[in-house]
Amino acid sequence: MQQLQDATDFLIQQTNSFVPAYGIILGTGLGALVNEIDIQYSIPYDEIPHFPVSTVESHSGKLIFGQIADRPVVVMQGRFHYYEGYSMEQVVFPVRVMKMLGVQKLFVSNAAGGLNPEFNTSDLMVITDHINLQPTNPLIGPNKDILGPRFPDMSEVYDAEIIAQAQQIAASTQLTLRTGVYVSVPGPMLETKAEYRYLTLIGADAVGMSTVPEVIAARHMNLRCFAVSVITDMCVPGKIKKVIIADILAAAARAEPNLTLLIKELIKLQGPPLVKEW
Ligand code: HPA
Repeated sequence: MQQLQDATDFLIQQTNSFVPAYGIILGTGLGALVNEIDIQYSIPYDEIPHFPVSTVESHSGKLIFGQIADRPVVVMQGRFHYYEGYSMEQVVFPVRVMKMLGVQKLFVSNAAGGLNPEFNTSDLMVITDHINLQPTNPLIGPNKDILGPRFPDMSEVYDAEIIAQAQQIAASTQLTLRTGVYVSVPGPMLETKAEYRYLTLIGADAVGMSTVPEVIAARHMNLRCFAVSVITDMCVPGKIKKVIIADILAAAARAEPNLTLLIKELIKLQGPPLVKEW
């Protein structure tokens, strides 16, 4: 808690007490939303006390404060993955700091493999539910009662109202928007064909290596959550190809304009911020 407080105090001081209402986490190859931000402050992770530092080349590692459609946001450009060797507490550290800064709703994006045969590469899939197959989770250990309850409810993790808003935006902009269940695996290797079959059998529509830890920590703190996957490769029999990271980034880049439009329009619909809770 002291580390969270140190990071929060530092950011309050560096940003002249900027209070973000909405937090956004940008996934692999999905940084273009940054161009839509009226940027006020951009703070590299390595300057923030106790912040983990990103080790993946495609993640540049900055916390950006500014406005999207006149709404105050904080954006993580680059996130932390369990497979990089961080503890789950480190992976979710920025989400907890976001909450302490005043964030009320969290918007998350990621790159994911498509398990549902109806999907195509570069589709967007709104996450309606998840399955956690990471080997651990950020709430293990003594509960931090000030953050949230020991046994947080997970019966409705992804906010139904924001999902409905996303569907309205998609309908009015002719954007194809899939919905489905995201399964989070530890990685860093991609899956075998047998594993893809297994993930499909247990009810997943897309598979990736992130998002679920952050969302668990966010729901623990009662943040309202919205998450969207960009389908970067298809993992169904007959469509499975050797995965090359450059292809994943290219598929993400193709989807970026749609993702940017969706998140920007969603932020617009959230209305002015409520009074800071903490
Ligand atoms: N599996 C796991 N994670 C991924 C994939 C995948 O096929 N594609 C993008 N992230």
